[in-house]
Amino acid sequence: MKQQAKSRATAAAHPNLALVKYWGQTDAALNLPTNDSISLNLSGATTTTTVTFDAALAADAVFLNGEACDPVTCARVSAHLERVRALAGLERRARVDSYNDFPAGAGVASSASAFAALSLAATRAAGLELDTRALSVLARKGSGSACRSIPGGFVEWVAAETDAASYARQLAPPAHWALRVLTVTFPGQPKAVSSLEGHRAAPTSPFFGARLVAVEGTLATVRRALRERDFAALGCAVEREALSLHALALTSRVAEQPWLSGIIYWQPETVALLRAVQAWRREGIPVYFSLDAGPSVHLLCEAETRPAVERVLAPAVEAWRGAYFVSEPGRGAWLVG
Ligand code: PMV
Repeated sequence: MKQQAKSRATAAAHPNLALVKYWGQTDAALNLPTNDSISLNLSGATTTTTVTFDAALAADAVFLNGEACDPVTCARVSAHLERVRALAGLERRARVDSYNDFPAGAGVASSASAFAALSLAATRAAGLELDTRALSVLARKGSGSACRSIPGGFVEWVAAETDAASYARQLAPPAHWALRVLTVTFPGQPKAVSSLEGHRAAPTSPFFGARLVAVEGTLATVRRALRERDFAALGCAVEREALSLHALALTSRVAEQPWLSGIIYWQPETVALLRAVQAWRREGIPVYFSLDAGPSVHLLCEAETRPAVERVLAPAVEAWRGAYFVSEPGRGAWLVG
């Protein structure tokens, strides 16, 4: 079949917040996780990506927010394009233009929305129409958590042992539960240990095995709490789950950085906010926190509690010179054009 000289598609995706976390892999090349994880898409942040396969290009070219991206990111994106080319039987190189509507380096993990949007845009530009499951499998190979940004709403990623069986599926659509997530970011240094290194380091923690046992109970609690919209049960499980990821990080050894006794992702403001959330709850505000591998904090509440949370949160964030944005459960990756 004769291939067109140029073909283009644009897609968008939200990042997601893991309620039950992915931390540790059984296969680093395929990004197969050690445990199932559960997340919700964050409507308040979006990555929009255009992929243009062009016969005139000698190499892939990747632009992030209008600027040529660094060689490491570029190689990672190019490796993902290679997967799409292999699926489509395509030779042409591509230009990738990706935009985040949230500030880069604000502490919000953008690799999930980035590889979800890239997977949808690249496959469509290559003339492929993958179903949600196949697209989720593909996105997972770019960045594990990206597979959860493909379906909409509340999502579970299955930790299977084979490539084709490890994908994310919807547990409930966005309208199932009017939850709100207030994502708080602080000015500061970029994190010293990437999530890639963190996954690799996780099994060096003496608590890794204990977490794998405990996480089964957490998954069951979170699945039930989501089904029954039991906010107190959900919040409690989510908060302890986030702390358990950090218990592993704090006690992990990073091969590439032997001077680190453990990974401390928090800044002073992070800890202050975690304590404030616990104090706000004692005062009667039903709000819980979650954390990823970085200093940012996600606050979880129900829609009707949002004004009460913002009343106490806004002055605190201002004092720390931080910022926050609010999300609802968001849709899955979508085609823009
Ligand atoms: O997809 P990665 O490799 O960026 O890993 C994400 C890891 C966490 O955000 C900390 C947890 C999760 O499940 O999203």
